[in-house]
Amino acid sequence: MSDAVPMEPTSLYYASFLSEDEPVRELLLQHGYIVITELPVELLESISVAETEALKYFQNPDKTKTIINKDTSQFSGYCVRKIWGGILEREHYHLLCGQTANALWTSESMKDAFIMLAKNLESIAYRALSVTKVVIPALVGEPFHSSDQSVFDVFLYGNESERKENMCSHTDPGLFTVKPLSTVEGLEIFDQSCNCWISLEPATSSPAIVVFGCDMLRELSNDKYNAVSHKVLTSTKPRLSLVYELRCDGC
Ligand SMILES: [Fe+2]
Repeated sequence: MSDAVPMEPTSLYYASFLSEDEPVRELLLQHGYIVITELPVELLESISVAETEALKYFQNPDKTKTIINKDTSQFSGYCVRKIWGGILEREHYHLLCGQTANALWTSESMKDAFIMLAKNLESIAYRALSVTKVVIPALVGEPFHSSDQSVFDVFLYGNESERKENMCSHTDPGLFTVKPLSTVEGLEIFDQSCNCWISLEPATSSPAIVVFGCDMLRELSNDKYNAVSHKVLTSTKPRLSLVYELRCDGC
């Protein structure tokens, strides 16, 4: 059961997000997040191709399996998490953006699709960052530079368990998280302006992307910008989720 209130999320057209600083800054200050709508065709195509490749990847029984090593954060690949009773809770492909050359791919088309979408989402994160004028001491660097600590994650939630939540409330560690909204409900975000949870999915009238602030943004802005709490509820059918997180050294 969701605790979310029936409220329209705060949104902005993609063209406005790119060209108008003040609305972007105001929405980030007031709500901590922006839902971006009226996406351009090329971006929609990039999302669609990556989603198709993601589903192919998860359906492939021969997919490369590498347990992510959280101590080094240098590994990419597949991990799976099971809960009691052997029910599959979540499958996960993790890509460290600075390590694409060493990443584990099952096909060139998967590689191309994931990197293309990650770069597109990265540009949205950089746009949001530029509007905040937050100074990053250890510059994030060139996109997809070898020391880039940003990540691109692909999740498939099985939604077969009895649990209420797939992922409990948390904030992300980096600067900004950028995520195409999924077609299956699940993501809820805490809106600081109403002090309430808002359900963002399924994407309302058209495909949309959410961008929200994270822990390092709050820290570097001296709490001017908030780190937005979010969680993933269970649903009645499998849910695919693609997420990009812009991080910097130490994020
Ligand atoms: Fe998260």
